[in-house]
Amino acid sequence: MPMRINRVLGIETSCDETSFAVVDAGRRVVRQVLASSLEFHSRYGGIIPEIAARRHIEVLSPLLVDLFERDGIAVETIDLVAVTNRPGLAPSLLVGLACAKAFSLGLGLDIVGIDHTLAHLYAPFLDNPDPPRMPFVGLVISGGHTLLFVVRDWHPEAMELVGKTKDDAVGEALDKAARLLGLGYPGGPVIEKKALQGSPRFEFPVYRGGDYDFSFSGVKTALLYFLKDKELSEGFVCDVCASFQKAVMEPLVDKTIRLARETGIRDVVVGGGVSANRYLRERFQEAEEGLGLRIHFPPMRYCLDNAAMVAGLGYQWYVRGIKDDLHLSISSRRF
Ligand code: KG4
Ligand code: ZN
Repeated sequence: MPMRINRVLGIETSCDETSFAVVDAGRRVVRQVLASSLEFHSRYGGIIPEIAARRHIEVLSPLLVDLFERDGIAVETIDLVAVTNRPGLAPSLLVGLACAKAFSLGLGLDIVGIDHTLAHLYAPFLDNPDPPRMPFVGLVISGGHTLLFVVRDWHPEAMELVGKTKDDAVGEALDKAARLLGLGYPGGPVIEKKALQGSPRFEFPVYRGGDYDFSFSGVKTALLYFLKDKELSEGFVCDVCASFQKAVMEPLVDKTIRLARETGIRDVVVGGGVSANRYLRERFQEAEEGLGLRIHFPPMRYCLDNAAMVAGLGYQWYVRGIKDDLHLSISSRRF
């Protein structure tokens, strides 16, 4: 049986963010450091795995110095290393995993490998005196994932996948739409900004089947044809952004709320990069008021990929008996 522990070092390098965090008792973030290589990828219209991995290696040492030396956190006080080992870009995951193994070996610490899509659901539990209650309905929405869960406990087997995208992730759809509109990468934040000045006057068809699955590739293709031979004036682009944002966000809100109603679950957690979107937050808040649900979003600093959520979930899994050893490898396993 694993020992009682307190302080966890979290490591996250699955995509373009390099992040380390020290979290106590799974809840209190003592310190988090983070660097992103996003600006190096923007000109390519997407993340380039080799560039991301190289940047992880370059910023790793300065970030660790910042984490441990600037705030005087003694490395000997760490009880466990939690590292994202799935899913993500293989070269990027490997950097974080090698780093985690160095800590584990050097300090004689146990190690636990974390699925970072599940860690996104942990983000609203950090630094929160009034956290969500179990069971909860969990929606993970990011550049790579659109997943709907019922979570009954912090154990991989108690996190039941109920629905997912059949094709593109919602963040991917926003990123591709922004590219078609010549708005650069990443698409989510710029579409959100343009949409504020536009009106949702166009109808884009989106999958609304009676199940809990999603599909966003059709709406992206519809946009491609819609834009053919159109002049991309500023006002038109803003209206398209407002319409496209509305089209892709509606099924996310509708299906999540329907799952909560059908299961009688009152708490809903929304995590992942797209959960930063204010339009989506407002739509969920409207539903919350009407139906007596409790809808939880992570604070903005824990919306994108970060190590604090990895450390927090690592703590919870470990105290429930889940741990790995130095044979831990990266995995392409995804929901
Ligand atoms: O969770 P994340 O940092 O990385 C992945 O695991 O993918 O999410 C990145 C995604 C990108 O697709 C980006 O366009 C989207 O999150 N995103 C947003 C917003 N901020 C980031 N989408 C909509 N509105 C935003 N404000
Ligand atoms: Zn993520």
